[in-house]
Amino acid sequence: EKGGYPHFMLKEIFEQPRAVADCLRGRLNVENHSVQLGGLTDVIDRLAAADRLIIAGCGTSWHAGLVGEYLFEHLARLPVEVEYASEFRYREPLISEDDVMLVISQSGETADTLAALRTAKEHGALALGVCNVVGSTIARDTDAGVYTHAGPEIGVASTKAFTTQVSVLVMMAILLGQKRGTIDKEYAARLIRELNDIPGKIEKILDQSDSVKRMAELFTYAPNFLYLGRTYNFPVALEGALKLKEISYIHAEGYPAAEMKHGPIALIDAMMPVVVIAATDHTNDKMISNIEEVKARKGRIIAITGAENKEVIDLAEFSCPIPETEDCLSPLLTSIPLQLLSYYIAVNRGCDVDQPRNLAKSVTVE
Ligand code: M6R
Repeated sequence: EKGGYPHFMLKEIFEQPRAVADCLRGRLNVENHSVQLGGLTDVIDRLAAADRLIIAGCGTSWHAGLVGEYLFEHLARLPVEVEYASEFRYREPLISEDDVMLVISQSGETADTLAALRTAKEHGALALGVCNVVGSTIARDTDAGVYTHAGPEIGVASTKAFTTQVSVLVMMAILLGQKRGTIDKEYAARLIRELNDIPGKIEKILDQSDSVKRMAELFTYAPNFLYLGRTYNFPVALEGALKLKEISYIHAEGYPAAEMKHGPIALIDAMMPVVVIAATDHTNDKMISNIEEVKARKGRIIAITGAENKEVIDLAEFSCPIPETEDCLSPLLTSIPLQLLSYYIAVNRGCDVDQPRNLAKSVTVE
């Protein structure tokens, strides 16, 4: 059932080219530059006219929601708030009928996410879902939604759920941008083409898994890790850190790279590996300055960056080159080496990768 892989997590990491392709199938039309999301047909007008989109989720699904915030703002010019479902439900949220609540959940059973969804519904908001498990409680409780079609995810650490959630959010943001007239035609056509090429590019990254494995050997006993990213890759930094924490039990933190100077820079010394995700063109110069700041304090740089980004590759001690893509699609690629890195480190440390201590696949307690 693990398809020849030693763990479900590794199998699911390697399934991503197929999972993302399944997620895109029948929804992307490269010839006429359009996106079809059947599950949203009845609600698309209301969504396009919304005052605000609230996105809620937990863990990895919350990270996908954060990527969604950048996507919906950029492509659809829609105000977005992203909330931890577990906090949202205990607040006194101001929600109206002109708001749309979008909950994201792989399992569709997470208790806090379900409660956030119900709170929004009580206030009259339109409730949408991005779920993986067909017929799950959240999928049934929402007014409309889009399935990720990733196939069953068994490993406790979410991998293909994340990349397919982000794929759905990209499609939703393009569709909404077209509907709201906020995305220019050529750009939409380019994004649709690029999105269609993502499964092949993920495959190319997976082909280099041996080099990530070798790198993991050198960092297996590091007591701490820092992950830094900007814009679309800030949530990827959080996701990389979460993955390492949950399966290898190494303390790791993700930060927006610019926040480093407001505190975490004090942690950096020769014992601190810093994973820098430098894969968005318009923040490249800033990321280079961040790398130099880390190096000046003897921190060890692992860079996840474009294969053409010589400047970053030369500065880094190790790098995982990824194929070029549009900035807003880069989380679909940059997240992959981070999944592999945490997987190999956890295996080297003898951890139970698929069943990490204290964790369950779906968290149905509040
Ligand atoms: O099933 P859900 O997407 O609602 O689960 C949310 C979180 O519990 C989940 O993403 C958790 O953080 C994962 N173990 C992360 O790898």
